[in-house]
Amino acid sequence: MLHVINHPLIQHKLTFIRDINTSPKEFRELVDEVATLMAYEITRDTPLEEVEVQTPVAKARGRVIAGKKVALVPILRAGLGMTGGILKLIPTARVGHIGVYRDPQTLQPVEYYGKLPEDIAERDAIVIDPMLATGGSAAAAIDIVKKKGAKSVKLMCLIAAPEGVTYVSTRHPDVDIYTAAVDERLNDHGYIVPGLGDAGDRLFGTK
Ligand code: PRP
Ligand code: URA
Repeated sequence: MLHVINHPLIQHKLTFIRDINTSPKEFRELVDEVATLMAYEITRDTPLEEVEVQTPVAKARGRVIAGKKVALVPILRAGLGMTGGILKLIPTARVGHIGVYRDPQTLQPVEYYGKLPEDIAERDAIVIDPMLATGGSAAAAIDIVKKKGAKSVKLMCLIAAPEGVTYVSTRHPDVDIYTAAVDERLNDHGYIVPGLGDAGDRLFGTK
């Protein structure tokens, strides 16, 4: 299922993330903030359990998160830009890394690194990448996380192209996709239009 998180704060910040005049420093800060806000939404279905606490006045019934174990799996490089923001809300999450880059000619994903938490099979995984373009990178990362046995998988991105949503939903119909926007289309180079350009380069100032 596709979840478009269109909270006003997220939409406001996303506009500045898209802006070509936003510096890498501001871009990183905004991506981090939006990731925190999106984490609030992506954790909405987290199961709770009842506990009792003693207030200064009396005993109270409260609810706490029911021991849920989460693994964040950023796709290198650009997924790193969202990871800190999510960890602010889910500080106990473990973090795995999957290195995938998109071949500029074929647009096919090329895997070059993988390190997942040892106990990933006991965890619900959130695969993170700001850009869902053709969907090849995300689908390849989800393949890896599933093969390692994660209990469930969600995909979190900032901007998705309709082509990427269709591709991932077809390959992985059980994976919920969370995004702040679904843009118009891909251009001939596989870039999202209007998108934000190359997320990795904008985060790390490499171009
Ligand atoms: C970007 C982006 C995604 C991928 C999306 O990474 O961060 O991982 O492209 O494209 P796709 O949906 O068509 O696969 P890139 O390949 O530029 O690598 P980088 O993050 O190392 O710059
Ligand atoms: N990767 C990016 O960083 N941006 C796009 O628009 C497409 C793929």
